[in-house]
Amino acid sequence: MKRIAILTSGGDSPGMNCAIRAVVRTAIGHNVQVFGVQRGYQGLINNELRELDASSVGNIIHTGGTILQTSRCKDFTTEEGRKKAFENLQKNKIDGLVVLGGNGSFKGAKIFSDEYDLPVVGIPATIDNDISSTEYTIGFDTAVQTAIDAVDKIRDTASSHERTFIVEVMGRKSPAIAVHVGVCCGAENIVFPSKEIDSARIAADIKRGIKRGKTSSIIVVGEGEKAGLSYEVQKELENSHQINAHVCILGHIQRGGRPTHQDRFIGSKMGNQAVKELIRGEKSRAIIYQNGMVSSISLENCFETKIDYETPFLELVRALSR
Ligand code: F6P
Repeated sequence: MKRIAILTSGGDSPGMNCAIRAVVRTAIGHNVQVFGVQRGYQGLINNELRELDASSVGNIIHTGGTILQTSRCKDFTTEEGRKKAFENLQKNKIDGLVVLGGNGSFKGAKIFSDEYDLPVVGIPATIDNDISSTEYTIGFDTAVQTAIDAVDKIRDTASSHERTFIVEVMGRKSPAIAVHVGVCCGAENIVFPSKEIDSARIAADIKRGIKRGKTSSIIVVGEGEKAGLSYEVQKELENSHQINAHVCILGHIQRGGRPTHQDRFIGSKMGNQAVKELIRGEKSRAIIYQNGMVSSISLENCFETKIDYETPFLELVRALSR
């Protein structure tokens, strides 16, 4: 292992830069050169590689986003695109590839490593925390904290005006951000995109709180495939239960910002581990976090279905908000 490449793919997440820094500095410490690929898989297809030395990753540990930039790359889903990407890696004499990203990026990495004889290691990095085999993906903690800060502010206005707010958080199909924000902000109820909107139950929870003197109610909504599910909840509450609620969609504010301690710490450890896997001669690995430890498993084993934890946490939220 003499030359490795690293790229970030899919949505950016706070802590990606910590992992990039750890990859670069660990590799250099083992006399391995590192090449940063600009704009994710698209940059691999377009041959956008540049060498990263130790100082090129200086002063980034505290920054959000990714210095390598990122993209959602359609071309990499085609055989032709992946062939170009492999040819460029060969041209640059790259012996191993590190991919930082979420579920979709990991699927791309897995297909690529099945098709070509090139060691690939995935580092889970997405605010969605949606990779089954790992308890943690880099960026999740910062995104949750950002959303909590926002809901706390909304709560001030909700109490002052005695209002109900419907706050929509990111996460696509993953319920993780919604669950954590719902529990930590004392929400009355959570709406998950995977489940029917139970407006009767939500309305009953809001009314129960008002009856015992609550001055505000917060309903957290997970966005699903497309932002805007909150408006359906708002309409149902208004039309069927005469509850007037305000909608606030937090959106991309949750993706940026200074990484928290957790994202810096786990990001640094995962980056370091990824290089060790490549140096050890591993071919197709995913870095994971389990029981407080960073380790790795085969890339092919990291897509099992995640357990459904919506229901128990919804029960917790409802029990604690009474
Ligand atoms: O995957 C991270 C994420 O922020 C999701 O939570 C969200 O659904 C999606 O990306 C938004 O993607 P984009 O920034 O491409 O609109």
